[in-house]
Amino acid sequence: MKILLINGPNLNLLGTREPEIYGSQSFESFFEALKAGMPNVELEYFQSNHEGALLDKLHEAGFGADGIVFNAGALTHTSIALADAVAAISTPVIEVHISNVHRREPFRHHSFLSAHCVGSIVGLGLEGYRLAVQWFLGKG
Ligand code: DQA
Repeated sequence: MKILLINGPNLNLLGTREPEIYGSQSFESFFEALKAGMPNVELEYFQSNHEGALLDKLHEAGFGADGIVFNAGALTHTSIALADAVAAISTPVIEVHISNVHRREPFRHHSFLSAHCVGSIVGLGLEGYRLAVQWFLGKG
């Protein structure tokens, strides 16, 4: 089972970025612990601040991986190109947001991606990524 976690813009700053919203753990340390607890799963992590690089990664992984867990950051609310890519690939995608976007500013309430994802997990912190991976494992 091969599962890819993708993070978009500014999520490389997790741990130091607005910790009252996003927590104080870096994604790298979370990901190491996640991998250690799932030795039989092929887990990969990719982060980029660039929309084009995220598109390329979705195209590259989106016909081979068994699942993609995707937090597109602010591009969630703006990018029709990323939504089209999620719609175009055959690998199922789960959308994750660390914060509860629905309790925040109205511009965060709409996601261009949601309609093309198998599901969305919002507001559960980094735990949302683990739950998404576990859902894919339950399907495998
Ligand atoms: C986020 C929510 C987005 O609105 C924001 O732009 C982010 C992070 C989240 O994980 O809560 O960068 O995707």
